[in-house]
Amino acid sequence: MRRWMNKDSLLELLDKAKQAAQNAYAPYSGYKVGAALLDTSGKIHLGCNVENASYSLTNCAERTAIFKAVSEGVRDFQALAVWVESDTIFPPCGACRQVISEFAPQIPVIFGNSDRYEITDAATLLPSAFSLHK
Ligand code: THU
Repeated sequence: MRRWMNKDSLLELLDKAKQAAQNAYAPYSGYKVGAALLDTSGKIHLGCNVENASYSLTNCAERTAIFKAVSEGVRDFQALAVWVESDTIFPPCGACRQVISEFAPQIPVIFGNSDRYEITDAATLLPSAFSLHK
């Protein structure tokens, strides 16, 4: 596994993701999720999940953060943190893995809650990602 950031830096990023989860709009699932995406200039782009009464229109926290950054002209990232306000932690969903892979196929990814966390990376989460660039 390639890891460019140490554990303490990733835990700091996870704390930013926790803050981002405060803005989550999750009246249907009850899962408030926050994401913090660190770019290579050191700026952090926050995102939260935004649900919809038409459930499939929901946008996950990770994609919110990535789309925010890319829409502001930022495409180079060094780490992603995902926080969930729940007893159960989960890694990014399949759709988010594909989007992470598009812009940051190797970055470390930390996900967790107030009790525990796990560290992995984008390539481990989505091996053999679909790409038109390889
Ligand atoms: N969710 C995320 O924000 N990120 C993921 O990687 C998985 C799921 C959100 C979507 C939905 O609002 C809630 O968590 C439950 O699925």
